[in-house]
Amino acid sequence: LNEQGIRPSRLHDYIGQHAVRDQMSIFMQAASARGECLDHTLIFGPPGLGKTTLAMIIAAEMNGTLHSTSGPVLEKPGDLAAIMTNLEAGDVLFIDEIHRLGPVVEEILYPAMEDFQLDIMIGEGPAARSIKLDLPKFTLVGATTRAGLLTSPLRDRFGIVQRLEFYSEDELQEIVSRAAGIFELPIDDSGANEIAKRSRGTPRIANRLLRRVRDFAEVRHQGVATKAAAEDALDTLKVDQAGFDTMDRRLLLALIDKFDGGPVGVDSLAAAISEERDTIEDVIEPYLIQQGYITRTPRGRIATRLAYQHFGKPWLGTNG
Ligand code: ADE
Repeated sequence: LNEQGIRPSRLHDYIGQHAVRDQMSIFMQAASARGECLDHTLIFGPPGLGKTTLAMIIAAEMNGTLHSTSGPVLEKPGDLAAIMTNLEAGDVLFIDEIHRLGPVVEEILYPAMEDFQLDIMIGEGPAARSIKLDLPKFTLVGATTRAGLLTSPLRDRFGIVQRLEFYSEDELQEIVSRAAGIFELPIDDSGANEIAKRSRGTPRIANRLLRRVRDFAEVRHQGVATKAAAEDALDTLKVDQAGFDTMDRRLLLALIDKFDGGPVGVDSLAAAISEERDTIEDVIEPYLIQQGYITRTPRGRIATRLAYQHFGKPWLGTNG
């Protein structure tokens, strides 16, 4: 089974994100009842929380076809024009990593979003001319890790903005149990809970860990995803009790050992652990901040008491 197989296809089956779910349910029902398409929707939040899943659900609930692309793929205006001229009324155009659109492509998105008009230059030199095409009414769903990465003219053109949050342990346990059901993998509550606790609040991680726990369950634990099977798998994968992986620990330990707990700028931290700044900001640190292991100050990142305690290191409580 691939990722598709375990993704919920309807809002009703989407676990967690209650604020988003309740709002989207109203907005979609209202638009449908008016015979309109849903307003353009921006979804932001850390990777793996269900932005793509939500886009698929919006298309399904609105009875439109989903057309998926991403910011980096749309290099030229013609790339976007090719997709947009294939849209039918009520379709959903999903642009993942929309903050990575080039300025020229972004520029043609504005009239498309606002007036359903495609303004495009064809030809070059003296023969170049601009043509205007009417587009069918569609819904643009944009996804990005941080809303702040978008230019304000682009952000302002979304009528609906939704922020996805990390999932609670209970929600992840439900997601894991549901996925195990689809896999036909026998799992007990304590097994599902162990995976949930160590999934960094992230369904994509929970589902990935579940696959590995299934491997361990099948080879060493009589095919049942018990707590022991989960611990066996997760310890082997070096996912610790707090759900931190090797990269999380490297970042926290660098902050503590190389920078005396901070404050330290993200670029220095990135250099110290040979990691991209963007990866730290988008992937690694949001969960550490949400869990209270790191704080972000104007002078840089600081390791909190929790971070020291996690590694059994004495906290002197003076930094910041
Ligand atoms: N799988 C991944 N994310 C999910 C969610 N929010 N609800 C149900 N299943 C999921």
